[in-house]
Amino acid sequence: MNHKKTAKIVGLGTYLPKKVLTNFDLEKMVDTSDEWIKTRTGIRERRIAEKGTATSELAYMAAKSAIKNAGLRPKDIELIIVATITPDMQFPSTSCMVQKKLGAFSAACFDIGAACSGFIYGMNIAREFLANGTYKNALIIGAELLSTIVDWSDRNTCILFGDGAGAAVLVPSKSNGIISTYLGADGRDSELLTLPGGGSRFPATYETLNNKLHFLKMSGNEVFKMAVRIMADAVNKALSKCNLTCKDIDCLIPHQANIRIIKSVAKRISLCDEKVYINLERYGNMSSASTAVALAEAVKTGRIKKGDIVALVAFGSGLTWGASVLKW
Ligand code: ACO
Repeated sequence: MNHKKTAKIVGLGTYLPKKVLTNFDLEKMVDTSDEWIKTRTGIRERRIAEKGTATSELAYMAAKSAIKNAGLRPKDIELIIVATITPDMQFPSTSCMVQKKLGAFSAACFDIGAACSGFIYGMNIAREFLANGTYKNALIIGAELLSTIVDWSDRNTCILFGDGAGAAVLVPSKSNGIISTYLGADGRDSELLTLPGGGSRFPATYETLNNKLHFLKMSGNEVFKMAVRIMADAVNKALSKCNLTCKDIDCLIPHQANIRIIKSVAKRISLCDEKVYINLERYGNMSSASTAVALAEAVKTGRIKKGDIVALVAFGSGLTWGASVLKW
């Protein structure tokens, strides 16, 4: 480790919208089947927020519960980082919207764009601020309303994604907590997973709307292969930085994109299924929220216990990836 100090998680929270969209519901919307979706992805259902909801509202609910779980009050929070690819607006940042809802006016706020790796990126940005003494605590939120950027007539993508939010409160720590991190990115493959419209490259026009540029585009097959290779490599790199091996992992929290990706990653690093936390059958891929929600659930259900070695790993648009090893 490069730091004398690190950061540990002292509170976790989640928020999943109530409305469930099953594979059977999707059968009525596009040419697909429950069987195809289950076998090709592992997903059975996903949560979809009510129309008119904004990402900050999901983020706020998860944050409120994480702060309570940490035994803090919103006014105690010194830093808020929101990781999202579905911000409320281009600006101001969604983190400022969350700060307003929480009444956490002592906090500095910013958003980060690292797609599915956003929660892991955010946690490690926070770790730097906490380890160097800048802040006493930080709130990291992964929150997504992917239903707002999915083309509901495209069976290649609409079956994969869901809405949700997960949040963590971190504080400085001298021993347990984040013991190692490996972050990476490769902009050369940025075109594999994009939302082209509405930014400065293609500002919103009737033409961008007609060409459906405001919907997520993905080259599924290529992303799949890279996800397997890169996530396995990222876990190994993070472990070797803290002199551990895959045998030391008690629980792996992988990004929840596809059961076949997760199983292939586990196989590559020789990790048995029992050590891998999977919830994608209930939520689908929630991008930055996926690892945050999975971690919170694994802790709440007792899958992660004090003293356990936990590895988090994610891969997403950018391309970006990240792995963190935590001693719980
Ligand atoms: N229902 C039925 N058939 C379908 C569906 C569907 N929903 N979607 C595609 N098909 C068809 C295709 O048209 C194709 O038919 P064809 O052979 O006649 O052309 C066939 O099924 C196979 O299609 P593939 O794309 O090869 O299917 P694949 O097994 O690769 O699964 C999937 C596609 C699920 C998208 C997979 O590639 C995947 O999970 N990719 C990775 C996604 C991911 O990890 N994203 C991570 C980051 S997400 C983020 O950052 C926001």
